[in-house]
Amino acid sequence: MEQQGFTIWFTGLSGAGKTTLSDAIEPLLRERGVTKIEKLDGDVVRTHLSKGLGFSKEDRDTNILRIGWVAEVLTRNGVCVLASAISPYRDIRDEVRRNVGAFVEVYVKCSIPELTRRDVKGLYEKAIKGEIKNFTGISDPYEEPLQPDITVDTEAEELAESVAKVLAKLEEYGYLPVAVKA
Ligand code: ADX
Repeated sequence: MEQQGFTIWFTGLSGAGKTTLSDAIEPLLRERGVTKIEKLDGDVVRTHLSKGLGFSKEDRDTNILRIGWVAEVLTRNGVCVLASAISPYRDIRDEVRRNVGAFVEVYVKCSIPELTRRDVKGLYEKAIKGEIKNFTGISDPYEEPLQPDITVDTEAEELAESVAKVLAKLEEYGYLPVAVKA
């Protein structure tokens, strides 16, 4: 049977766990028979397709519309897309949702104090000191999704719990066959 394409769109602040979640889900989807998968990660896309773009609203919107366009084309061709980008603006996320169609929005939630504690890339410290301007969540907006398909709270949940929530939603939507329990 031809695989039905769909896009899982992870949105949330830098360091919240979008890429971690996407990396954890990919092999599980493969185990479940989803063989055509492509990951589109903001950090990676900014090294080629969006190279040279900065972090103004205009540049972020351009970045998201580019990722959204690739997601749309792949989804139309039966691929499962795992897209991870802060995507801070609601109107652009909603535009991408309309364009892609089979779109599952996952809000990867984590508080600023926790992100500052984790500070994996050391960016929050710099942003708080004012060394990085327009940093999302510190000195630039992040518009929370109003009706995400799934919210995962990476501060309160174990990774396995968040992964399970996403897989359950994919089953509910009919993108993934329901797991047969032994
Ligand atoms: S988005 O806003 O256009 O969706 P994207 O997800 O591609 O952002 O890139 C975010 C990554 O860029 C962050 O994880 C961080 O490593 C880096 N970055 C550098 N400057 C900023 C900034 N001002 N705001 C947010 N992220 C930044």
